Amino acid sequence: MSNKIQSLSGYIHEYQKSVNEPEKFWARIADSFHWQKPWDNVLSWNNEGPHVKWFENAKLNITENIFERHLFTHGDKAAIIWEPNDPNLANKIISYRELFELTCQFSNAMLAQGVKKGDRVIIYMPMIPEAAVAMLACARIGAVHSVVFAGFSSSALADRIIDCEAKMVLTSDGNFRGSKNIPVKAVVDEALEKTSTVEKVIVCKRTNAEVTMASGRDIWWHDAIREESKINTAESLDAEDLLFILYTSGSTGKPKGVVHTTGGYMVYTQYSFENVFQYEQNDVYWCTADIGWITGHSYIIYGPLLSGATTLMFEGVPTYPHPGRFWEVVDKYEVNQFYTAPTAIRALQAQGLGPVAPYKLDSLKVIGSVGEPINEEAWHWYHDHIGKGNCPLVDTWWQTETGGIMISPLAGITPNKPAHASLPLPGIQPIIVDAEGNELKGNNVEGNLCIKFPWPSMLRTTYGDHKRFKETYFSAYPGMYFTGDGAKRDHDGYIRILGRVDDVINVSGHRMGTAEVENAINEHPRVIESAVVGFPHDIKGQGIYAYVICDEDGISNEILIDEIKNTVRKIIGPIAKPDEIQIVPGLPKTRSGKIMRRILRKVASKDISNLGDTSTLLNPEIVEQIIAGAQIK
Ligand code: PRX
Repeated sequence: MSNKIQSLSGYIHEYQKSVNEPEKFWARIADSFHWQKPWDNVLSWNNEGPHVKWFENAKLNITENIFERHLFTHGDKAAIIWEPNDPNLANKIISYRELFELTCQFSNAMLAQGVKKGDRVIIYMPMIPEAAVAMLACARIGAVHSVVFAGFSSSALADRIIDCEAKMVLTSDGNFRGSKNIPVKAVVDEALEKTSTVEKVIVCKRTNAEVTMASGRDIWWHDAIREESKINTAESLDAEDLLFILYTSGSTGKPKGVVHTTGGYMVYTQYSFENVFQYEQNDVYWCTADIGWITGHSYIIYGPLLSGATTLMFEGVPTYPHPGRFWEVVDKYEVNQFYTAPTAIRALQAQGLGPVAPYKLDSLKVIGSVGEPINEEAWHWYHDHIGKGNCPLVDTWWQTETGGIMISPLAGITPNKPAHASLPLPGIQPIIVDAEGNELKGNNVEGNLCIKFPWPSMLRTTYGDHKRFKETYFSAYPGMYFTGDGAKRDHDGYIRILGRVDDVINVSGHRMGTAEVENAINEHPRVIESAVVGFPHDIKGQGIYAYVICDEDGISNEILIDEIKNTVRKIIGPIAKPDEIQIVPGLPKTRSGKIMRRILRKVASKDISNLGDTSTLLNPEIVEQIIAGAQIK
């Protein structure tokens, strides 16, 4: 039985049912999956803990729901179309049956290397089919994967390995990205010098870069699978057993390990995928994210593959070898659903219509956006020139923590309104609250966005630190999940996401904690103190602006600024490198010693017309000096 909503009235009806009788609703949706043992309770929820369990005591394996459930009907269908970085090299089209065999074989290889159910496995790999196989094989044997974006530095990788006490790392010799050839294995080697838990590293050959293989620890992927059978019996997992950990930045401290479990995540990613994108069985679907982010997990791998879809995996970048690359790929495979980030849209929009003109793009039925607010100009450009004015545009709001899309139009069903994530999916109960936590009912309201009832793919905890989970998400408004985003409900009841209200900035759709960047800057020996804020950036959405106090002697500011940028690149990775660094004599602080970031944000945005009340500052004179240093005209 299909769980696909067909009309606006159907959506309204389903939504009502999901709110009135959530357990009955989700039991019906979950019924179409293969469970080795049914659940005792659909949901148990205690908002004190807070603890949530979906499909309690049920047994399953998510890969049986990807493979065994569908093999009879579409074993020969393309599961993954893989397009390489270099368009002149061969692509790969992998059927469900082939992907199943590759997954079983690699599952056996991991078992042979000593990985057991519950062990944590880090995946630090480029966008190659083996990365998908790695994730699926972990899921098959019940190992918990933690994918780390292959652009993170060795110390960011080491932090994650240490936090989850990973036993194995899966990686490659190198990574082709645009014109770059990144030495991935060397980064792993450097990370492993700082960690002690990893016993084995499996290395997939991609670039033929020269690598050092530590004897007894490192093994080539092709050697690891050579003797292994292509048959494997899936491990039986509890619905609440961990499926994966994904690290993400917050407003304080180091990135936290967001924990997702098996049963609820499975049900919700398939349900949301089919409904938001209105996927039909012969469609080709393409999400341009990297598997290192939640979008890659839920909407390149799990959601599409659970639905038996053909999912396109792209190794490259939007502008290599030319700025029409995305559109070339759309035409090449006759892509029907295309899902990308506003930052990519803005970057391509900036190239003008020339690179779009040679392509037909007439296969497209649905276009999507994710990761950051999409401005109206980019929305219209995308809608008019890529969707040719006749594709529904789904602006999907969600987070690493939510596991799946929460607020979004359903393609072709929900009337489109530019730059509005629109309406919640069935089962999702968003509310807008004021600073005191009072629900702002009705339309034309603006405040902080919370979710007041659990949903199947919600995070269960932050790995190894349940207290942090409670404090981060459930303490601002007790009993409710606080998203960290501001939102507005307009006169039609449509939701528009306004962006983060905490100390998190969104750079090109990537989340960065300001504290995390400050900590990296402070590692530079000449830095005494720093404060990082976001500022509006034409392409990236937000850029990173750092105010830095340095000690006196030594090199010129220019060299110092370069050095500080490199320090951040080394400690976190290129995505966290500040766009602007201003060396300042001091930072505006309140009498209690708190940095008044509001002022720093205004200066970084070059908007000093109304700085608000500065009378509580301990050092008001510093504001003028900072403004003078920022050279605002
Ligand atoms: O601020 C919101 C923004 O991205 C944050 C979540 O980031 P992350 O966990 O990295 O996941 C990104 C991909 C799901 C949110 O708190 N965000 C995400 N989607 C949108 C968005 N902001 C506005 N509109 C969106 N469609």
